[in-house]
Amino acid sequence: MGINLSGRSFLKLLDFTPEEMRYLLDLSADFKRMKRCGTPHRYLEGKNIVLLFEKTSTRTRCAFEVAGMDLGMGVTYLDPGSSQMGKKESISDTAKVLGRMYDGIEFRGFSQEHVEELAKSSGVPVWNGLTDSFHPTQILADLLTIEEKFGGLKGVRFTFMGDARNNMGNSLMVGCAKMGLHFTACAPAELFPDEKLVEECRRIAKKTGGSIRLTDDVAVGAGGADVIYTDVWVSLGEPDDVWEQRISLLKRYQVNRKVMNFAAPGALFMHCLPSFHDLNTTIGQSISERFGIDEMEVTDEVFNSKASVVFDEAENRMHTIKAVMYATLK
Ligand code: CP
Ligand code: NVA
Repeated sequence: MGINLSGRSFLKLLDFTPEEMRYLLDLSADFKRMKRCGTPHRYLEGKNIVLLFEKTSTRTRCAFEVAGMDLGMGVTYLDPGSSQMGKKESISDTAKVLGRMYDGIEFRGFSQEHVEELAKSSGVPVWNGLTDSFHPTQILADLLTIEEKFGGLKGVRFTFMGDARNNMGNSLMVGCAKMGLHFTACAPAELFPDEKLVEECRRIAKKTGGSIRLTDDVAVGAGGADVIYTDVWVSLGEPDDVWEQRISLLKRYQVNRKVMNFAAPGALFMHCLPSFHDLNTTIGQSISERFGIDEMEVTDEVFNSKASVVFDEAENRMHTIKAVMYATLK
């Protein structure tokens, strides 16, 4: 039977079957080829979308804007301070208003409940551009990147190092389970993902041939991995005063040359970005002054090494987001 995602929202990967994710990945590769060849694909001309951001963004915003315009759609961007939502108007009322004007809504914010509420009340497809719990469009881009480099996903040994209970740790674990990868969360036990989610992913992985493993041992976690993935130690919206504790918990889990040497020959380094790998950011500089560290979750050497595919991932955000919008709006 064919896959039909028309009218669906894209809120978290748990809502999608492996076959549906395969369809989205194949469609993304098709759109990437079209873009590269200059083949026009204004398949959604006459439609309009709105992008709602409660948190800042470079990749996600630009990916939605360019993908929307390539598909021929009108695009409205609402920045963190410029809508009534949450302050003067409830999420549910905002959803009802936007659903009357737009064909689809992207939301980046804090609470997963809010993006779910938008989807329930707006009557149009809603796409999750990151919440505190999940970042599903990023995972599609990451899976596409792994597939491009290794020719497939099943059986790939994937290790996430760092804050494994954040939006990236959660969504990567779900995405790997769904597509049959062997997922390892390598983190201090305090930062392991939620037990219930781990159990759910283990049930999924049993059916897809994947597996889920948690370890606090860097040599074990990185040993033989095909992919080493990391993310910032403090996520968007977290208070400044968590830095000290997070640095002391996570400095052992920095991705450096030693960690990459534990991994399999030809292993990839991946990161959703933005990344603190040097002192060329104001936050990077201030952390260096306060705590005396010049590189955080990844060293500059690994970030800029041949193993690093971080900018392929960034480009793939656009192709995969285009596939999600097309599949759900067509
Ligand atoms: N990876 C990612 O979501 O980047 P932005 O925060 O720049 O959107
Ligand atoms: N965990 C990070 C991901 C950024 C794409 C954050 O939420 O800030």
